[in-house]
Amino acid sequence: MSRLQVVSGKGGTGKTTVAAALALALATEGKRTLLVEVEGRQGIAQLFETEALPYEERKIAVAPGGGEVYALAIDPELALLDYLQMFYKLGSAGRALKKLGAIDFATTIAPGVRDVLLTGKACEAVRRKDKAGRFVYDYVVMDAPPTGRITRFLNVNDEVAGLARIGPIHNQAQAVMRVLKSPETAVHLVTLLEEMPVQETADGIAELRAARLPVGRVIVNMVRPRLLDAADLDLARTVPHSDLARSLSAAGLGGAHHGRPAERLVAPLLAQADEYAERYALEHEQRAALGELGLPLHELPLLAEGMDLAGLYELATELRKQGTT
Ligand SMILES: Nc1ncnc2c1ncn2[C@@H]1O[C@H](COP(=O)(O)OP(=O)(O)OP(=O)(O)O)[C@@H](O)[C@H]1O
Ligand SMILES: [Mg+2]
Repeated sequence: MSRLQVVSGKGGTGKTTVAAALALALATEGKRTLLVEVEGRQGIAQLFETEALPYEERKIAVAPGGGEVYALAIDPELALLDYLQMFYKLGSAGRALKKLGAIDFATTIAPGVRDVLLTGKACEAVRRKDKAGRFVYDYVVMDAPPTGRITRFLNVNDEVAGLARIGPIHNQAQAVMRVLKSPETAVHLVTLLEEMPVQETADGIAELRAARLPVGRVIVNMVRPRLLDAADLDLARTVPHSDLARSLSAAGLGGAHHGRPAERLVAPLLAQADEYAERYALEHEQRAALGELGLPLHELPLLAEGMDLAGLYELATELRKQGTT
């Protein structure tokens, strides 16, 4: 089981939600996980219904069976200062650098360096050990940038390693790439059962594979309940309307005060079945396309009441049931 689990996917498909549920699932039964946010949007704090996270590892949830989930929202500027501190022992000089705009340079002009800092921080947490020599975190789960940027984001250390041929940045980049390209890492993609996100997932996987980054699982999120199966849908197309009306009446539907009220329910009911049949066909097609990717596939239900903390635990339980942990 990879100790660094990176969660990407098309925007809005549920990366943050799935990363959080996965962190909870992996923490179950006394494990400790770190959930890392790299885009600075405080999505994790929102999801766990806590105040904004500082740039500091904080316990944010207890998993079933006594595990712990910690969270960290990485601030790229502070990460750079950390980094400079670590390698160049810049104390107050770091603060001066900030004034001079070195941070701007590193975070905007040289975004590659910024990404090294973000992935570097996650890799550091993966490798960190306590005094007794045990890993501090059993797993690190990263709420990562979307599919369109994930390969560059993870591969950027290669670019930087080429750029800086010697020195601490080079060494750091090499060390990070060793973790990211090893089985210690798995990159999961979240998708919906819709054409665009599925296409983006296929493209993303091809890119990750081409860059020799380890692809993990595909998680289909917000799956709507299955209402009718193929046989039901066939029946809906062929059933005589009079039979249907009789059944509706017998079931007490349509009321009894007008002439033949159940008959007025037939057309709208069949229209709904038609609509569902269309969704069924589209979803079937997308499931088939995902099946061709040759990766473990998982499905998480659409929570009809919207997301809250209870829903998050529900998704975590579902992930465990499906063997993702
Ligand atoms: N299984 C689910 N059931 C119901 N609602 C969900 C589910 N998963 C995610 N959501 C909701 O969908 C929205 C998008 O989810 P989320 O923020 O996790 O996506 P994201 O991929 O991280 O988005 P972004 O690209 O903006 O970072 C949120 O409002 C979230 O609460
Ligand atoms: Mg998000």
